[in-house]
Amino acid sequence: MAEFKPKIFEVGAKDWDRKLFDELIPLPDGTSYNAYFIEGSQKNALIDTVDPSKTEILIENLNKINVKKIDYLIANHAEQDHSGSISKILKQYPDAKVVTNQKCKGFLIDLLLLKEDDFIVITDNETLSLGDKRLKFMITPWVHWPETMITYLEEDKILFSCDLFGSHLATNETFVTDENKILEDAKRYYAEIMMPFRVNIIKHLQRVDELDIEMIAPSHGPIYNKPEMIINAYKEWTSDQVKNEVIIPYVSMHESTKKMVDYLIDSLIKREITVKPFNLTVTDIGELAISLVDAATIILATPTVLTGPHPSAVYAAFLTNALRPKTKFLSVIGSYGWAGKAVDVISSLLPNMKAEIIEPVMIKGYPKDEDLNLLDELAEKITKKHKELKIL
Ligand code: FEO
Repeated sequence: MAEFKPKIFEVGAKDWDRKLFDELIPLPDGTSYNAYFIEGSQKNALIDTVDPSKTEILIENLNKINVKKIDYLIANHAEQDHSGSISKILKQYPDAKVVTNQKCKGFLIDLLLLKEDDFIVITDNETLSLGDKRLKFMITPWVHWPETMITYLEEDKILFSCDLFGSHLATNETFVTDENKILEDAKRYYAEIMMPFRVNIIKHLQRVDELDIEMIAPSHGPIYNKPEMIINAYKEWTSDQVKNEVIIPYVSMHESTKKMVDYLIDSLIKREITVKPFNLTVTDIGELAISLVDAATIILATPTVLTGPHPSAVYAAFLTNALRPKTKFLSVIGSYGWAGKAVDVISSLLPNMKAEIIEPVMIKGYPKDEDLNLLDELAEKITKKHKELKIL
């Protein structure tokens, strides 16, 4: 809990021990659910709440600063890590009205069983006065749900961005202190949560650019008091620009595919291409997602199990397709024993990918010299493609 500007408090909760989000996303640094209390001269507002597992901490923090009444409870997003304590807050502060957009209201009624008269519905660009402070609401769909919005406090030039610009990081610091660390965590967050909505986010960033912002207060991770750092990072991540990198998610059962991966890695490195291999049996899926943000090329490497790809390769392909990275080139390598449908199955799992397919290299059994030559040819094709993009 911190009063980080006069009359503006961070009242949310840290979740140091949480290791997984959505039962899917690894959280190596825990997370936080930030909520903000703003005391205006006539009205006050609570911006978002916390995960239901941390409601008591939010209520404790509000008690610490002696909050007797909440007029407006701003709901930027209906997902339960921010909305999950709304019902209890409404019980504790019965005068409070939930202020949100029409779509979010619908979600909150569905998810939390709130009632019609719990709400004040706002529209895009509408403002709400707290007396000496005024909130402006900007509806920003698909970051990362259809109902998401952000809230700008005009006098203090603070953007309450909810998930946008967030990072899963539990820390004692109210503000960002280690920029490199936060960029790593924010990039992981972007990759796992925001990347599928890159095109929408580009549009929202243009609107954010029109605001005069001194701080960005997200709902996960520390507050940015140099907001240009994270805004510029988002512009880079969402841009069409890719890096001279090949990522190789791979799995191997009897060393044939592994031999191919090792050979291809060396062949690409000789050609001055950065390579990032990920052993799918042990990799942190978040690390893979981070690399998907800006690598030019993905080579998925799989052995053949029965007649199809290894299930770990299927998982990687499914995840990649869901995250919709801006990858420009794609291929598959691997080996088979008696039948080879792995490429067909992998291809069918990637309908969202706009990447150009480079001829796969699937070989029978353990790789022989002529097979390794095919990998050199693949490395050469990738080199040519990267040169055409002027990233090599
Ligand atoms: Fe942090 Fe989409 O919830």
